[in-house]
Amino acid sequence: MKTLNPLRISGREVLPLVEGGKGISVSNGESSGAWAKAGGVGTFSGVNADSYDAEGRPIPQIYHGKTRRERHEELVAYAIAGGVTQAQIARDIAGPDARLHVNILWEMGGAERVLHGVLEGAKGLVNGVTCGAGMPYRIAQIAANYGIWYYPIVSSARAFRALWKRAYHKFSDWLGGVVYEDPWLAGGHNGLSNSEDPRHPEPPFPRVLALRETMREFGLEHTPIVMAGGVWNLREWEDWIGNPELGPIAFQFGTRPLLTQESPISDAWKKRLLTLKPGDVYLNKFSPTGFYSSAVRNAFLIELHERSARQIAFTHEPIGEHDTELKVGPRGRAVFVTAADKQHALAWMNQGFTEAMRTPDSTLIFVTPERGRQIRIDQVECMGCLSACSFSNWSQNEEGTTGRKADPRSFCIQKTLQDISHSESLDHNLMFAGHAAYRFAQDPYYANGFIPSVKDLVERLQTGD
Ligand SMILES: Cc1cc2nc3c(=O)[nH]c(=O)nc-3n(C[C@H](O)[C@H](O)[C@H](O)COP(=O)(O)O)c2cc1C
Ligand code: SF4
Repeated sequence: MKTLNPLRISGREVLPLVEGGKGISVSNGESSGAWAKAGGVGTFSGVNADSYDAEGRPIPQIYHGKTRRERHEELVAYAIAGGVTQAQIARDIAGPDARLHVNILWEMGGAERVLHGVLEGAKGLVNGVTCGAGMPYRIAQIAANYGIWYYPIVSSARAFRALWKRAYHKFSDWLGGVVYEDPWLAGGHNGLSNSEDPRHPEPPFPRVLALRETMREFGLEHTPIVMAGGVWNLREWEDWIGNPELGPIAFQFGTRPLLTQESPISDAWKKRLLTLKPGDVYLNKFSPTGFYSSAVRNAFLIELHERSARQIAFTHEPIGEHDTELKVGPRGRAVFVTAADKQHALAWMNQGFTEAMRTPDSTLIFVTPERGRQIRIDQVECMGCLSACSFSNWSQNEEGTTGRKADPRSFCIQKTLQDISHSESLDHNLMFAGHAAYRFAQDPYYANGFIPSVKDLVERLQTGD
């Protein structure tokens, strides 16, 4: 195994090993502080992070506002307090010289305000900000104003070119690196573009090389690229290390650090990771952000698939093949569907899926009354955690709505990610994971349920395993 040479990241030489940011509260002050202390770069999530009460228990994020906008304000306040808290914890653990980054999602509700609030409240504690999901043009200026480095997360050279041309070229001094996140393999939300096929993964080397070539065009040959997604051990990436074609490279890990002593996820989640098999983690498109995401197949995802499968197109008037009347809803309103779809609908209703819910695409899905009630409650309780949400139709624009019908085929990501990171409820929540998660069960390092400390894992990674 080649020796891993230190790399200058956010102003200091560190190991080229990064813990990726994981929301909500999955990479936090404790995990990122330990990673940074072990010599790499730790990233805590600034997405609705936890604050604690006097006994050290996470303060439940309960909302009192009557309107979505009022609750959105509460959410921003929770997020800022949580981000500052985690920054302080991380810095206390890591020590003054370690490198710590905060991760935010550009498409999260109030992203800029939260970032300003966290960086203001955590001045001197954070060295960099990583930011993905969407096109974070403004991150450069914000980082430069606070004198910290910024790390856009992209999934193609094209995306970086657009960011550079529009904004980053004005703030090149603070561009600490570019994270290439493999859109087919990385855990969490994925940046697949419309032209990329979720079923046909493309190998990362040519894509990262294209990114480096683009960066060279802009004079960024010495700026590190951080490879994220599907990196399990570095023995498999030896030809990337010290490769002059690629230039300076660091590696980001999202899934492997889930299984460490400092990782804040529940013991049940850790145990589940040790049982996953190839194919258990896959890309789905149910997220209310509109992005693909990579998560574990469980009852939660299966129910979403089934909900979408019980779906038929309808019209309000008889048009073409939609010539068959179907009565739906408590008042038996008539819609028009194909004769075959009417038979499907009647069969689903017979099975108890009696409630027809309209989607923004002029279709109906059929759910049980209980599920229908829960969907409506979740939509009504929305606290505006995204800049725009397909599930509730919340938008942080002036109108407070996307202008589209709320989509019952999606779900409240805030609710489910808060729940999974603060409870043992694994089957009824979204469980993000990278595609390599099945390797926990195969890697002898984890035999007999061994869970390393972050320090052990960082040392292990340096051996190539
Ligand atoms: C549980 C989980 C949550 C994640 N949450 C985020 C997030 O909030 N923001 C983000 O930019 N990336 C997020 N990621 C992606 C990681 O930061 C990292 O880039 C990715 O997991 C690397 O791929 P790997 O899972 O194959 O190691 C998440 C990943 C996981 C597994
Ligand atoms: S409904 Fe959408 S915007 Fe509202 S809290 Fe849930 S995920 Fe966030």
